[in-house]
Amino acid sequence: MQLTEIYTRGKAFFEDKEFGSLLNYVETGFVSRNDRHILDRFTFRQCCIDAGESDTDCRVLGVELATPVIMSSMTMPIPAIAADGLMQVAEGLKIAGSLMWTGTPIPANLDQLVATGVPVAANVKPLSDRAKMHADIERILAAGVTWLGLEVDAGVGTKIADREMGFECKPLSSEEISRIKESVAIPVICKGVLSKEDAIKCADAGVDAIVVSSHGGHTLDYLPHPLQVMDEIVNSVDDRVTVFVDGGFRRGSDVLKGLAFGASLVGLGRPILYGLAAGGKEGVAGLMEGITRELSRLMTMVGALRTDAVRRGILISR
Ligand SMILES: Cc1cc2nc3c(=O)[nH]c(=O)nc-3n(C[C@H](O)[C@H](O)[C@H](O)COP(=O)(O)O)c2cc1C
Repeated sequence: MQLTEIYTRGKAFFEDKEFGSLLNYVETGFVSRNDRHILDRFTFRQCCIDAGESDTDCRVLGVELATPVIMSSMTMPIPAIAADGLMQVAEGLKIAGSLMWTGTPIPANLDQLVATGVPVAANVKPLSDRAKMHADIERILAAGVTWLGLEVDAGVGTKIADREMGFECKPLSSEEISRIKESVAIPVICKGVLSKEDAIKCADAGVDAIVVSSHGGHTLDYLPHPLQVMDEIVNSVDDRVTVFVDGGFRRGSDVLKGLAFGASLVGLGRPILYGLAAGGKEGVAGLMEGITRELSRLMTMVGALRTDAVRRGILISR
């Protein structure tokens, strides 16, 4: 199945499903409109004579991947799409050489997802009930995941359209982040950083990476697209933390723009759901492989043959 077909079939699947509303955006829906608007502001500087062959393999925080395109943190509504949906996503991502990233709720079968052999990251929310948050971290670690994610952007919970999702949260402090980092043996990643101030606090707390993200429009309205704040963030952390990005990335061309702005990995949220809905584990694998193939063609033609060799100069602002 080609990418266009995966997206068409996947979107159609959600149209008559009640849980399809989980794909909506907070309040006015600005985040969705702005994501596409910002990504479309950049074109590519083709520079291909004497180009060699591109290679999308990369090693990030000790993990070998065949692609810099990964799953963004999500659990809902995967089990509603298919009862064994989480397992299918894990297997599809494994075929594609990518990484799985679970969200809320923490999957009951997290250890089985890990057992498929795909690298798995898992997030916790900054629940007001900190004892519960720490118990969640213990559960995640016991499952043997590769990375632990902290949702720094869910400090007032999450919201879809007009509905608050009911997770009682409060913002994490720098001290809490640093204590968690010190107490955990695997890489810790703060997800949902959108300013240099927060990025510097994450770096000072010693975390391994940050995800520049507007949480897919599930927290606040009128958040910028991550690319609007990437420069200030990447410059402020000065290689002290690895930077990932997500939000509205749909094709290989979008991913290349994320890499050009300094991201090591680019996450996909809704596209994973479309891939699963369109074709199960093959749909997820096909989605990731299709986007990676587009990325690889572009990398060759802009003369950036490795993902860490993609520079800002390949972009021309419209
Ligand atoms: C249905 C759904 C559930 C999500 N659940 C979580 C979650 O539990 N934790 C989290 O950090 N982000 C969550 N997100 C946000 C994604 O991790 C990601 O930041 C966002 O979806 C990326 O944008 P995209 O969907 O345009 O690719 C969710 C997004 C969607 C669409």
